[in-house]
Amino acid sequence: MANHSFTFTHALCRTPSNSVTDGLRAEDQGDPSADVFRSEHASYVAALRATGAEVEVLPADERFPDSVFIEDAALCLKGQAIVLRPGAETRLGEAAALRPDLTRIMTGVIDLQTEGFVDGGDILCSDHEVMVGLSARTDRTGAEDLGPIVSDLGYKLRILETPADILHFKTESSLLDAETILATPKLSASGCFDDYRVIHTAEGEDLAANAIRVNDTVFLSSGNPRTADALDKAGYKVVVLDTTQATLVDGGLSCMSLRFSI
Ligand code: GLY
Repeated sequence: MANHSFTFTHALCRTPSNSVTDGLRAEDQGDPSADVFRSEHASYVAALRATGAEVEVLPADERFPDSVFIEDAALCLKGQAIVLRPGAETRLGEAAALRPDLTRIMTGVIDLQTEGFVDGGDILCSDHEVMVGLSARTDRTGAEDLGPIVSDLGYKLRILETPADILHFKTESSLLDAETILATPKLSASGCFDDYRVIHTAEGEDLAANAIRVNDTVFLSSGNPRTADALDKAGYKVVVLDTTQATLVDGGLSCMSLRFSI
């Protein structure tokens, strides 16, 4: 399947819980409003549907404040779901909670067997490789144990270092097409994208880096007009979405869906 790293027939999301007010964050800038978050989330889901993807929205799971960030619990590749081991103590149970839905929806489910940890937010996939950024949430043991699974699915695994003050590897990078990455200058300075064409986010617009390409559209968080303009000029169809509440709990566009084809 060509361009399977950004061409998707389906997406899976989870409604923000009321408990999202307790979501993890590195810096407290106030709690998100669960109601406003659900409104922004509904717009996000509608925007994904507008790309032609079939989007299922799972009910809120009040046990897990961060469960709206469904991407951290699993990795979907070629119709298979790999159930991950999220690295924050309050989030580890999200993977088992999601597993029955993955079993129902996906062609197959593979459990990452590891003593380590991997968050989906630390995984950036292109058509041929799975890049895993080590972070406070993803350790080398977890990343190495993911290797044989992705290798069986036809991908090369590449383990990278995420700079210390960045939560997730994809907090500051995203795939724009099979050859092109959007990244902050700081993350790309590490050399991790030397095999790709890189478009940098504009100065002061680091939050733009957590974009998602879904079919013909690149989704970008609002408040990043110069990056949006640069992508538009580079020929991408850009749609801007509000992520004000997700940002308060260190989440962004990629974390709020699992995107896949079955
Ligand atoms: N609040 C998102 C996370 O820290 O995982």
